Amino acid sequence: MFIYRCLDLPGRVLRRLRGDKRDYRIHLFEHLKARLGGRPVGRVLEVGPRDGIDTEPLLTLNPQRLILADLPHAKEVLETALTKRGILDRVELRYGNIMYDRVLEDVLPFDVIWCTGVLYHNPEQLRMIVRLYDWLAPDGLLVLETATARRAATRNQPCVEIWHNVPKHVHQANHVSSNVTHLPSRSAIAAWLEMAGFADIEHSPCHRQQSMSLAQNRAAFICRKPAEAAAAEGAYYLHTEENYPLGRAL
Ligand SMILES: C[S@@+](CC[C@H](N)C(=O)[O-])C[C@H]1O[C@@H](n2cnc3c(N)ncnc32)[C@H](O)[C@@H]1O
Repeated sequence: MFIYRCLDLPGRVLRRLRGDKRDYRIHLFEHLKARLGGRPVGRVLEVGPRDGIDTEPLLTLNPQRLILADLPHAKEVLETALTKRGILDRVELRYGNIMYDRVLEDVLPFDVIWCTGVLYHNPEQLRMIVRLYDWLAPDGLLVLETATARRAATRNQPCVEIWHNVPKHVHQANHVSSNVTHLPSRSAIAAWLEMAGFADIEHSPCHRQQSMSLAQNRAAFICRKPAEAAAAEGAYYLHTEENYPLGRAL
């Protein structure tokens, strides 16, 4: 990481001299706006808003409804943060584990799902991606951002690193929180998005626009649920010729 910080130094200095304080969130949001191309959005879902830092930009899309879903224990922090930002009454809040609780059934489908910093906290990551696919309206967009694999031998392979029984100092040295157990690589996520049926999958340059070291450890994608249900060649989980469902997000 030290080497990336050194390589990155001139860019960071230049940005500071220019007074450019935008971080990867802003760049990712700008990428989303470019993908939307000004089309109006109806329902937007933000998964795991925590402190509402991305909620304010999402409101500038003027969605008909902005639904925030987070774990029950996040309620107090989230509602305090939204109150401080003066936007509590502009959003709808749902509390539960989106993987296992049916807290969104009555508000489906969404035109945009914004899900940053959440995937790597959940062990059933492919299932989460298929679930988000199922919740999108045709032509709906998914913004998926996450921490990614860290080990030198695996970070560039299409795989998931399991961080179990790893000494605390190794977690710390690799900037992995101690409660994280599954870290997918960038190429694993790209493959899952394709297998789930997404089209126009773009790897966002948002982290790189902030710093090289961040781009080594995180990835973000924007992709579209095709309007036509017909499965593309790579859309493994949409093929129905087997006599049992493949990878459904039940
Ligand atoms: C690391 S924070 C990310 C916050 C913010 N989205 C960001 O990008 O900085 C992860 C958030 O996702 C929520 N979260 C994680 N897994 C979840 C799940 N299965 N269902 C609902 N919320 C979840 C956590 O409670 C937390 O608010």
